[in-house]
Amino acid sequence: MKELDFHMHVLVKQEDELTAEELQLVDEARRATYRSYAPYSHFSVGAAVELADRTIVSGSNQENAAYPSGLCAERTAVFYANSRYPDQPIRRLCIAARDTEGKFLQRPISPCGACRQVLLEAEQRAKNAIEVLLYGTDGVYIIRSIKDLLPLSFDKSFL
Ligand code: THU
Repeated sequence: MKELDFHMHVLVKQEDELTAEELQLVDEARRATYRSYAPYSHFSVGAAVELADRTIVSGSNQENAAYPSGLCAERTAVFYANSRYPDQPIRRLCIAARDTEGKFLQRPISPCGACRQVLLEAEQRAKNAIEVLLYGTDGVYIIRSIKDLLPLSFDKSFL
């Protein structure tokens, strides 16, 4: 028998410890929450994606009366980035969310499983780690690669 251990490294920064570039991405993600369409959950999520040439694109969650037809902010942003700038690899992603009262979450928001799967493929497509910033008013989690968010993942190497 043997055991496998998977480790994940998370850097936790307070807002005043962020670099100017990090703060800009956090700001874009926070701003994107105000463009969310969330009449059902009233939970507004924003995602900002930084491309290799430093272009920033953002997306927000878009809901639908047929609930599963909606899309999370992360996938909205990543799919938009890859369709608008297919030759620009994604380098960084930041997520922010506001609760049903409109307040930014204290605890850093974490992407859902389906988004992690899409982000993983974006990372493989980019051929470089995508750094993830998870914003909360208590602190910002910085994770160096999507791979860390999805250990033992399924990808095209299995096909
Ligand atoms: N949502 C996101 O956009 N991203 C996440 O990481 C978690 C959940 C959205 C989906 C739905 O519109 C609302 O938040 C409540 O689940």
